[in-house]
Amino acid sequence: MPTINVELDQHSYPLYIGAGCLSETFILQHIPHDEVLIVSNAIVAEHYLKTLENSLKGKRCKSVLLPDGESFKTLDTLNLIFDALVMHKFSRQCTLIALGGGVVGDITGFAAACYQRGVGYIQVPTSLLAQVDSSIGGKTAVNHKLGKNMIGAFYQPKAVIIDVNTLSTLAQREFASGLAEVIKYGLIYDAHFFEWLEQNAQEIYARDINILSEMITRCCQIKADIVAQDEKDLGLRMILNFGHTFAHAIEAIAGYGELLHGEAVAIGMVLALRLSEKLALIHYHLVERLQNWLKCMQLPTELPKALSSKALLEAMELDKKNTDSSNRFILLEGLGRAVIKQDVALGLVQSVLKEV
Ligand SMILES: NC(=O)c1ccc[n+]([C@@H]2O[C@H](COP(=O)([O-])OP(=O)(O)OC[C@H]3O[C@@H](n4cnc5c(N)ncnc54)[C@H](O)[C@@H]3O)[C@@H](O)[C@H]2O)c1
Repeated sequence: MPTINVELDQHSYPLYIGAGCLSETFILQHIPHDEVLIVSNAIVAEHYLKTLENSLKGKRCKSVLLPDGESFKTLDTLNLIFDALVMHKFSRQCTLIALGGGVVGDITGFAAACYQRGVGYIQVPTSLLAQVDSSIGGKTAVNHKLGKNMIGAFYQPKAVIIDVNTLSTLAQREFASGLAEVIKYGLIYDAHFFEWLEQNAQEIYARDINILSEMITRCCQIKADIVAQDEKDLGLRMILNFGHTFAHAIEAIAGYGELLHGEAVAIGMVLALRLSEKLALIHYHLVERLQNWLKCMQLPTELPKALSSKALLEAMELDKKNTDSSNRFILLEGLGRAVIKQDVALGLVQSVLKEV
């Protein structure tokens, strides 16, 4: 089974990637004591909770199911985890296991960071987005009603266990949404991987398990590599936000939930590439290659007509205030080569928003 290490000074950890690895017992080596709380939701638990519990034989294993969806990524939901931990009288020695997509993973990680000033946790991501992105790197958070991921902590898991078989039950739209983050890695970091994704588009769309395993492994390597160089998101890690400045504005203006995160990222990446082209950093041909791949995966490549470019610009302004940056965009200066550009002319951004 491929294992990748996230190399960090004090708290390195392994990512295990395999088909069917959820039913194996190697997870036990990352659980030093008896008490285990599995955090999941009803949809994911129906498919995978029993299998995971069977791998934890001999442990005092309890579970708590959270309401499903981004709108429940809140302090109230976080409290359900604390309630369960306190009710079961779990000590500082306990381990939490996040079984689910990015929402369950982000909330569970934050609960682990807070409970009794910090307990161990393991990520068992079951959505494609969580397997290639959110389960790795230790960013944990819940939303505030005025802003996404406003309350959280950097807190690394003890291990990440990625069973690619769990993708068989994921809805098509959610699967495609995760693919937007996959192609992002090729664009910003690895030209060969981008070409490989183009060559294997059909197999990926058909969810060929061997191809998916290879694809997820490469994404995890890239994310682990970037996180190891910049754990706290102060430099290189920012390139993972390629397409996201636009995407966050699109999500906010369209109304949260209208477009899935990956769908907004797909459009955001097209916009970022068009902006790169306008600055003569890349050739238009690369924009077409990205659009073709996204269309193959049934991801959107154009802004919904109802979204005004003025409203989007205003929303991007807000996003900027949140991150306390001046006008800053992650762009490409070639396939596989991301670059951070400050003070991009507003007129160029406006014309890109009108054209896409
Ligand atoms: N921490 C990070 O670094 C990071 C990075 C990117 C995104 N995120 C966060 O991740 C979240 C999005 O994650 P997501 O796209 O996984 O959304 P999600 O957790 O809402 O999962 C999407 C849907 O798929 C269901 N699901 C998950 N696995 C399934 C399976 N195997 N079979 C059937 N259904 C399944 C979920 O119950 C949910 O309904 C956002 O909150 C975002 O902020 C965090």
